Amino acid sequence: MALELTPVEKAKEVHFKNPPAAFFSAIGGEEGMKELMYDFYDKIYESDIANFFPQCEKEFDEIKFKNSKFFIQICGGPKIYEKESGGMDLNEYMIRLHDDFSITEKSRIEWLGTMRDALADKAQHVDIALIKEFWDYLENFSKLTVNSFSDGSTYYAAYTQAKEER
Ligand code: HEM
Repeated sequence: MALELTPVEKAKEVHFKNPPAAFFSAIGGEEGMKELMYDFYDKIYESDIANFFPQCEKEFDEIKFKNSKFFIQICGGPKIYEKESGGMDLNEYMIRLHDDFSITEKSRIEWLGTMRDALADKAQHVDIALIKEFWDYLENFSKLTVNSFSDGSTYYAAYTQAKEER
């Protein structure tokens, strides 16, 4: 699938748009999103970033479940992740949650590549224009999760650096 990947630039503003509800419907609503995300996490466990994630099956299941809930809500589905973020804006909460991990550009690229493979498997029936909009959110937003740079420095994105377009 020809989905573009652009490099992260430390401390640069990131513009992103939440994925459209049309993608959520096209993927098959809550059930379809869950299938996509469970497939994604199965692939994560075979990837070069598997070491980031818990190896215990119970904890792994918990992450799969929470991850699905986040993506259902961020794509305009029912607000089922709300409780996890304790009222904080979902995207802001997600940036802060990733601060606990040392995420490099290389891990971001592996994460996105894994998602691209999951989309190729589970979103074959979805209009490519909608996949592209979902991808654009991931591609841009994931830049805000990168906090460890090749010169050895760290930088934690401030939410003011995230420009959500509506
Ligand atoms: C578009 C970008 C991304 C989004 C929307 C995203 C979303 C999520 C979500 C929803 C969770 C589960 C949150 C919860 O526990 O409630 C999560 C956990 C996690 N993500 Fe991401 N993620 C992104 C990028 C990345 C990247 C690039 C990495 C690189 C390794 C990464 C590593 C992790 C790790 C390590 C966890 C937590 C595992 C744990 O709790 O032990 N994520 N992410």
